[in-house]
Amino acid sequence: MKKIIIANWKMNPDSGARAVALARACEEEIVSVKKVDVVIAPPHPFLREVGVSLNKALLGAQDVFWADSGAYTGEVSARQIRDCGAEYVLIGHSERRDSLAETDGMIHKKVKAALEDGMAVVLCVGESERVGGEISPVVGAEVQSALAGIKKTLLKNLIIAYEPVWAISTSGVGEACTPDMMFRARLAIEKIVADAYDQSVTKMIRIIYGGSVSPQNIAAILSVGHMDGALVGSDSLNAETFGRIVRNAAGMV
Ligand code: PGA
Repeated sequence: MKKIIIANWKMNPDSGARAVALARACEEEIVSVKKVDVVIAPPHPFLREVGVSLNKALLGAQDVFWADSGAYTGEVSARQIRDCGAEYVLIGHSERRDSLAETDGMIHKKVKAALEDGMAVVLCVGESERVGGEISPVVGAEVQSALAGIKKTLLKNLIIAYEPVWAISTSGVGEACTPDMMFRARLAIEKIVADAYDQSVTKMIRIIYGGSVSPQNIAAILSVGHMDGALVGSDSLNAETFGRIVRNAAGMV
């Protein structure tokens, strides 16, 4: 399966001009990369201007609402972010689950709406606390509830990102997730998906890793961790560093 590296800029940078400059710098860094899909997910207000400045990278949004239109102050629909050029959307990021109290039920509605709208969904799952080296049942439960009742044919546009909260660089815990643990998370996610649908679905979806991804650890994440790609936070805000992550990922394919 083709690897994918996704830049999650979170609530950065602070102006459209800086967002476009960062996007252009990232494009220059990845100009010679062929074998990896690259997605850049800027904040909503910069989607269109970043989108038009991209040639190679694809555009992603960081969130979406479940309804198509209507009285939902402050929300944006899949149709609206697609109109800005976004093909991908992150759903269920741990920062939204924590700071905005997004529930599994809300995440399910968002995943369903975005997949039905034809977007590629990056469903983020991950336990908040490390339980030794074990994969917490929280991970499977989050996958199960997000996908409940969603048609199998829609899953070809699904990516699941395993992001243990304790391994995210800005979580304050800063513990490293080992590639061995990533692989076990992958197997646990595959089992949940296979039980809910069938084994063939595990070949349709990409399972990626997020949490302190860097140029130094990306190779092991893809090889030893058996991940199909990575979701990159802090290290995606520096074009040169992000470029090295993408190029190192391409070297592994
Ligand atoms: P990080 O963030 O790469 O800074 O750990 C990853 C994420 O939160 O998606």
